[in-house]
Amino acid sequence: MVPINKLLLENKAWASGKLTDDPEYFERLSHLQTPEFLWIGCSDSRVPANEITGTQPGEIFVHRNVANLVIHTDVNLLSVLDYAVNHLNVKHVIVCGHYGCGGVKAAMTNHDYKYVLNMWLRNIKDVYRLHRAELDSIEDEETRVNRLTELNVREQLMNLAKTSIIQRAWRKEQRPHLHGWVYGLKNGIINPVFQMGPDTHIDPIYEYDDL
Ligand code: CO
Repeated sequence: MVPINKLLLENKAWASGKLTDDPEYFERLSHLQTPEFLWIGCSDSRVPANEITGTQPGEIFVHRNVANLVIHTDVNLLSVLDYAVNHLNVKHVIVCGHYGCGGVKAAMTNHDYKYVLNMWLRNIKDVYRLHRAELDSIEDEETRVNRLTELNVREQLMNLAKTSIIQRAWRKEQRPHLHGWVYGLKNGIINPVFQMGPDTHIDPIYEYDDL
C-alpha cells in the first residue's frame, strides 16, 4: 500500500525534476492552455490519458467517468464539452473505453448495484439492448464484454453527435472530429474502432436545422 504522504513527496520530486530539465516549464504552462484534444475516458485507474498517449500537461483536456459515458443530462460532461469545443476550440474529441471494463461487465449482469450505480449502468444496458442479436450470438463471455465495450464507445460518439454543441461546431467550423477508441489493458495498445467527421449525418430526428 502506498501511504498518502508518498504522493506529495513524489510530487515534489517530479516538480523539481521538471525544473531541472526546463527552468521555465511551469511558468510557461501556467500562461497557456491550448489542448487540441478532449478525452472522455473511463475512470479506471489503469487508463491514464496522458501516460498512454505520450502527451504532456497542456495537451489533452480530460473528462473521465465510469465506462466513459456521454449522458445528455450530465451537466458535468456537457460543461466540459461546451468549454472544450467552444472556448478551447479542440480539433478532436476522443471517447476511449478499455477492454475488460468493470462498468461494462457490471451492466451485463442482473445484479442490483443500488441507487445511482443502477441509474448509470442502465445506459450501458440500453446499448446492449440495441445490439442484442449480435451480442447474444457471441458465446465467449470475455469476447462479448469486449464487443459491448466497442459498441458502447460508438454509442457515446452518437450521443456526442446528437448535441447541439457538436452539430453547431461541425456546421460552422468543420470540427471537431470524433474518435472512438478502445484501450487494451493486456497489451497497452489503443484500438481505434470508430470515427465521425463534421460531414456525418445521424438519424434526422436528432439534427437541428436552426443552429
Ligand atoms: Co472501465
